[in-house]
Amino acid sequence: MKKKQFFFDRKNPKTFARFGSLPGYRRVSQETKVFCFFFSKKKYVLPLLLLSSSLAYAADNGEYLTRAADCAACHTKPGNVPFTGGRAIKLPVGTIYSPNITPDKDTGVGNYTDDEWVSALQRGVGHNGKYLYPAMPYNSYTLMSRQDALAIKSYLFSLKPVHNQVPANSLSFPFNQRWSLWFWNQVNNPAHRFEPDTQKSADWNRGAYLVQALGHCGQCHTPRNWMQGLKQGDQLAGAKQQGWLAYNITSDKTHGIGGWSDADLRQYLSTGTAPNHGPASGPMAEAITDSLRYLTAADIAAIVTYLRDVPPQTSGPPALLASAKTATTPDPLGVHVFNDACAGCHLPDGQGRQSAWASLAGDHSVGDPAGTNMLQILAHGSELRTNDRLVFMHEFTRSYTNEELAAAANYLTTTLSGRDSQVTAADIAAARTE
Ligand code: HEC
Ligand code: HEC
Ligand code: HEC
Repeated sequence: MKKKQFFFDRKNPKTFARFGSLPGYRRVSQETKVFCFFFSKKKYVLPLLLLSSSLAYAADNGEYLTRAADCAACHTKPGNVPFTGGRAIKLPVGTIYSPNITPDKDTGVGNYTDDEWVSALQRGVGHNGKYLYPAMPYNSYTLMSRQDALAIKSYLFSLKPVHNQVPANSLSFPFNQRWSLWFWNQVNNPAHRFEPDTQKSADWNRGAYLVQALGHCGQCHTPRNWMQGLKQGDQLAGAKQQGWLAYNITSDKTHGIGGWSDADLRQYLSTGTAPNHGPASGPMAEAITDSLRYLTAADIAAIVTYLRDVPPQTSGPPALLASAKTATTPDPLGVHVFNDACAGCHLPDGQGRQSAWASLAGDHSVGDPAGTNMLQILAHGSELRTNDRLVFMHEFTRSYTNEELAAAANYLTTTLSGRDSQVTAADIAAARTE
């Protein structure tokens, strides 16, 4: 009996380290509790438990959590070795370069102690008390358990140390004063761990943990206050970040994802496209490429369970629930450019040729008359890696004029949504530099 308690006392950190942070651990511990009940008087409890957990979750735990938390996204310069940093994050007040988080002692994080590591993730205070800029999303990771934070550290420290000195940040005064982040933290970092809601199911709680803590979905999808902290009352109500609009993903039926089926949401999150909702592009394509596509089906389902319950908000362009065709006469320039430049992949009716990812029917971006994400994809293209293919659209600003692209964008949006699209040549020009 003593042994049983050792293995299942969640408050015992050793227990938690072994079982607590496994993906979907609540389900595991429930099953194993049942196991334990049946076999508690016998000697083979331990082997059975280890067998049951390793069969269900063969993947290395630290690696899985590192993916779920998407540490690679910011800490990798496109085309370079993962986690070696140097990716430029442009802010209105200057540029921050993500650090090298391989265990190299000179240029990476090799000197971090466990406590410093946990403090960096939960409080935004790193090695030797250095205050970190919230471009590192510690105001989400703060909800992460110490065990998960250390499992991530173990995984990253098991990788080869890579010597890579990243460029120095170029922030203007007073933003280059790290100590001032103390005040930011007081207001904007909730600085507490995830508290399961006992009124909700285990699935809901797992989903909440994945969305709020590891997946840091709110960093893109939640609007910010004047200090660039997340507006807690407007969770996941949609926000513009680096030129892209991360749509409202609350449970609202018109503006959020309330009109999506569970199956469509699961498919979108794990493959980057869903019938009647179009592809995921830009930063969302990156989140799927580096993180979400690796999650287990149970974890994706848990995320969906939680999103279904996020209080509805009505901000942002309404989603397209079905392809609504317009009766207005299209601008001939728009028709011409669309047929010349776009229809080869998207087909004249936007339904997509061969690839499900080129189907734009019901795509939120072609229902947005301001064309925010349309402008971004035309100016910068998009790339998405799924578990079995690479999907991409190249940028178009080199081969077409601003007027031509604005006309094609307006034609596509008006045709697929029936909404009056207002993209101008000046908008395309601005997106080129964003
Ligand atoms: C949205 C982008 C982003 C994500 C995602 C992200 N980081 Fe960071 N991280 C940064 C930036 C930017 C900095 C540098 C902040 C600064 O200079 O103050 C940083 C700093 C750090 C530091 C401090 C390094 C030092 O030089 O002392 C550590 C450790 C760290 N991140 C670990 C992680 C881990 C582990 C994950 C995943 C759980 C992660 N980061 C995910 C952007 C990110
Ligand atoms: C780095 C920023 C970023 C992160 C992190 C992020 N998203 Fe997104 N998300 C976006 C953007 C931008 C779009 C719009 C993509 C497009 O236009 O194709 C989007 C689109 C979506 C959509 C489709 C909405 C619609 O109406 O078409 C869903 C659902 C979604 N995200 C869920 C999530 C979830 C769940 C997470 C966390 C696990 C997450 N996102 C994390 C930026 C992000
Ligand atoms: C070579 C094939 C190809 C061509 C040509 C092409 N596209 Fe795409 N387009 C794609 C693919 C593939 C995606 C999905 C990309 C992704 O998710 O990363 C996409 C995505 C999109 C999206 C969805 C953006 C979002 O928010 O998710 C829009 C809008 C779009 N294309 C408009 C256009 C327009 C307008 C043109 C012509 C100027 C065009 N495309 C030409 C292949 C193409």
